[in-house]
This record gives sequence, structure tokens and C-alpha cells, in this order.
Amino acid sequence: MGQSFDVVVIGAGPAGYVAAIRCAQLGLQTACVEQWRNPQGQYALGGTCLNVGCIPSKALLESSENYERVLHKFKVHGISASGVKFDLAAMLARKDRIVAKMTAGIAGLFKKNKVTWLQGHGRLLSGGTSWKLEVQGAKGSEAVEAKNVIIATGSRARHLPGVPVDNKLICDNVGALAFDEVPQRLGVIGAGVIGLELGSVWRRLGSKVKVLEALPVFLGAADEAVAQEAWKIFTQGQGLDIELGVTLGSVKQTKKSVSIQYTVGEGSSRSLDVDRLIVSVGRVPNTDGLGAENVGLKIEARGFIEVDKNCASTLPRLYAIGDVVRGPMLAHKGEDEGVMVAEIIAGQRGHVNYDAIPWVIYTAPEIAWVGKTERELKEAGVAYRAGRFPFAFNGRALGRDEPEGFIKMLADAATDRILGVHAIGGQASELIAEAVVAMEFGASSEDIARICHAHPSMSEAMREAALAVDKRALNL
Ligand code: FAD
Ligand code: NAI
Repeated sequence: MGQSFDVVVIGAGPAGYVAAIRCAQLGLQTACVEQWRNPQGQYALGGTCLNVGCIPSKALLESSENYERVLHKFKVHGISASGVKFDLAAMLARKDRIVAKMTAGIAGLFKKNKVTWLQGHGRLLSGGTSWKLEVQGAKGSEAVEAKNVIIATGSRARHLPGVPVDNKLICDNVGALAFDEVPQRLGVIGAGVIGLELGSVWRRLGSKVKVLEALPVFLGAADEAVAQEAWKIFTQGQGLDIELGVTLGSVKQTKKSVSIQYTVGEGSSRSLDVDRLIVSVGRVPNTDGLGAENVGLKIEARGFIEVDKNCASTLPRLYAIGDVVRGPMLAHKGEDEGVMVAEIIAGQRGHVNYDAIPWVIYTAPEIAWVGKTERELKEAGVAYRAGRFPFAFNGRALGRDEPEGFIKMLADAATDRILGVHAIGGQASELIAEAVVAMEFGASSEDIARICHAHPSMSEAMREAALAVDKRALNL
């Protein structure tokens, strides 16, 4: 038998690598199996998030937003610039350097914490008093034994039948983060988070972007007022062309372009010709080749590994976390599950508060929320009071020339406990942290209303929204 560990984690995305580090901190002999190889063919840690997700997308969002600022947003400050150009290769190289730095950083963290990195594909072979696994790597196959196993194999882009993704002309997130030139005409299937973020990147860099969305509503998961404001800003203000209620017909590829036939509602067939197409219609959990059938691990109908609220699977000492289990497919949700499971394995009482997981969409303006939407509260029959404060009345927002959007706070009508906070505007990704802390501490809207917030700051809008719950906003 090969090496033996207290814990073997399969997958080193944000869920898996954080679980491995926390296990090691708690004194458990820990290994983490990872098969990812970077474009240079080297094994790399960090999963989707660091290699082809959160980190590279945010790097490109920042670069493209800077270009947009110089072109369109500096004028109002009295700053003019001529002959502004960008170098796409340099932009992509900067993104790649950030990815390389971050993924190497995790290798450093593994070393520091004495986590063994097993390079290759991990597969469960058998269970019993301990788990037997096989790791198939570049140097062949290695047998590994573990008292506990944490599966953190993540997810991959969902593809559609008849829409062959080659990551050249027709791309998922992997190709769409690395176009070698800015497409003149860009099609996007799916107006979800990736469609909006990457659609924004390429629009800012010059693409004419058309987004085709199946649902008749826009951003259905967000609060309705936020979704309405976002729709207005993206479609009217920024010229992102989004069509709702679309049924996709045929998708045909020539050497240099893609032709899409589709219908809207009951209407007649329409066609769209684009130079590149991004398919961003959600993600599917990775359980292929994991050996689930060898050990009788239960997979749900939608492909997720079945787990309870503590991420315990139906089998003893086998846990699953992150995108491969139910719940939002977000890096920080997976990270928190990783910490929870490590602490449970070490005999502590880890837990995740699924009611206080923030969502952020990194468009400009940013969209962020935590907790319940008004629609969810109405459906659940919960009586609530809502307070809303627009950034147009916030001095810092005006100084930053970001008057768009608002913060809305929802609080229980009887107890005043905060039930949800929804923001669209500049820095919403950072502002939402205050709402998450408040909800974790069971705060009331009055608590936030009585806390001193620095002036002038965007965060004053949070306090004013809290004051507005009691109809006593001071600056509105
Ligand atoms: P993953 O990150 O997918 O990692 C799983 C790892 O397991 C992979 O490295 C894979 O190679 C490895 N693996 C799988 N099977 C095996 C096996 N059998 N043996 C060995 N290794 C295996 N979320 C946010 O919170 N914020 C964002 O801003 C954000 N932006 C995103 C942007 C894009 C373009 C995309 C695609 C996603 C984004 N996400 C974002 C989602 C986020 O990336 C995921 O929620 C997160 O990566 C999930 O973490 P994970 O550890 O569960 O899985
Ligand atoms: P998504 O679930 O956010 O959006 C997919 C969209 O595609 C939906 O609106 C859906 O109705 C639509 N759709 C599905 N089938 C379709 C079809 N046949 N034709 C047209 N439209 C169709 O998924 P997305 O954007 O692929 O992102 C995957 C996940 O990655 C997100 O749900 C999120 O969990 C994560 N992510 C998070 C980010 C963040 O936190 N900022 C950024 C990017 C991704």
C-alpha cells in the first residue's frame, strides 16, 4: 500500500485547497489530489476560480473598465486624452501573471502547512475502515489510503446539444477569457453572471454584443428592483443588447463566424451572425471518473453529490463540498464548506450559515446582495419593511461620478431584524460585507442606523437605507 493520510481532499479549487489547509492547521495528515494543468502543461492548483473563473475574469473586468473610463468617463472630470489605445496581448498577459502568482501562492501555502500535493486524477476504489484511492498522474498510478475523504471536484461549463464548444469560435468561460482578438460581433447565450461579466469585458473593448436569454425575466435571482435598474443601465446606458424569452434553433459554424437561428416567444425565426459565441448557460458538477460507483456514493438527479447540511455524504467519513454539491456555485461558499468539514473531521463544531452568503456580479455598476429578496419574503408570507437610498444623494458617489443605483434594506416588520440587503452601484461588492456582518450578528436595521459611518463614504448609503426602513432617512 502507498501513502496513508488522515484526510485526502480530491480537487484543489477554493473549496478543496481551503479544506486541505484547515485540516493541516488542525493537525491532520493531509493530502490534496489535483489534476489541473495550465496552458504550459504544468500541474496547477486553484481550480476553476483561480485558473479560468473568478480571478482572471476580475482582472479583465478591471482592465476593460479602465479603458472605458479613459474613453468615456474622464471627460466629466475635465480630463481629455487622445490616441487612447489598448494592447490586448498585454492585457491578457497581465491576467495570466495574476493567475500564475495566485496558483503558485497556493503551492506555497501547501508547503507551509505541510499539505501533500498529489498530482493527477483521483478515483475512489473502495471503502471500509479506511478509503482506498488511486491517483493517476504523469508518472503513473499511485495507491493512497485515507481515514477521511473530502470530494471537492467542482464544476465545468454546461454545453448545449448542437452547439459544439471548441474554445476558438464557440467558447465557454475558458476560451472567452483568452480571445486573441476583440471580436467585432460577439454573441452570448445566457444572460446570467458569466454572460453579463464577460459580455461587459468585450463590449468595453469594442465588441458589438448580443445576449440571448431563454427566460422571459432578466436576472431572476436578484431582487426585482435591482434587476430592473440593471436592465435599464446595461441595455439603455451601455448598449448591451439583451433579448429575453429566446428559444435557440440551429447554431452553424463557418471558418470565421457563427450563425444562430432563434425565436422569441411565439415569434418567427430570427438569425444572428457573430464572429465569436460565448456559451454561458450554467455549470454542471464534476463526478465523472471519480469512482462513485465503486463505493456506492449517491449522486442526485442533477449530478450533484448528495450531502446533508454539514456536507456529509451518505457514506461514513466521506464529505463533499463546493460546486459539486447543492447550493450556490460560489467560491466563498465552497471555502466556508471546506473550513466547516475540516473542523467537523477534527471533532469541532464547524458550520455554514447558508442564509448569509453574499452574491456579487462584477459589472459596472456592481450588483450585490445577501439574504432574501422582496419576492421571497412575499412568497413566504413574511411581513417586512423596506428602506431604500439612492447613490444619487450620496456625496462620495457624486464625487466618484457614480450616481447610479441604490441600496435597499429589508427588515422584519415585527422584530426589525435584517432579512436582506440589495445593492446596485459603485463598490457594491465591498459595501455588501457590512450587511453580511450585520446579518451574521442578527442585527436590526436600527443597529445599522445608529452606527457612525465615515463621511463622505459610499457606506453612508447603507446607513441611510437602514434609516429609510423607519422612514427617517436624513439625506433624502
Ligand atoms: P473548482 O474551482 O471547479 O475546482 C475543482 C478542482 O477539482 C479542479 O481544479 C479540478 O481540476 C479538480 N478535479 C476534479 N475532479 C478531479 C479528480 N477526479 N481528481 C483530481 N482533481 C480533480 N465565484 C465567485 O464566488 N466569485 C466570482 O467572481 C466568480 N467568478 C467566476 C467567473 C467565471 C468565468 C466562472 C466560470 C466561475 C466563477 N465563479 C465565481 C464560480 C467559482 O469559480 C466556483 O464556484 C468555484 O471555483 C468552485 O470551487 P470548487 O473548489 O468547488 O471547484
Ligand atoms: P447562470 O446560471 O448565472 O446563468 C445562465 C443563464 O443562461 C440563465 O439566465 C439561464 O436562464 C440561461 N440559459 C440556460 N439555458 C439557455 C438556453 N438554452 N438558451 C439561452 N439561455 C439559456 O450561469 P453562468 O453565467 O454560466 O455562470 C455559472 C455560475 O458560475 C453562476 O451561476 C455562478 O454560480 C458562477 N459565477 C459567479 C460569478 C460571480 O460570483 N461574480 C461570476 C461568474 C460565474
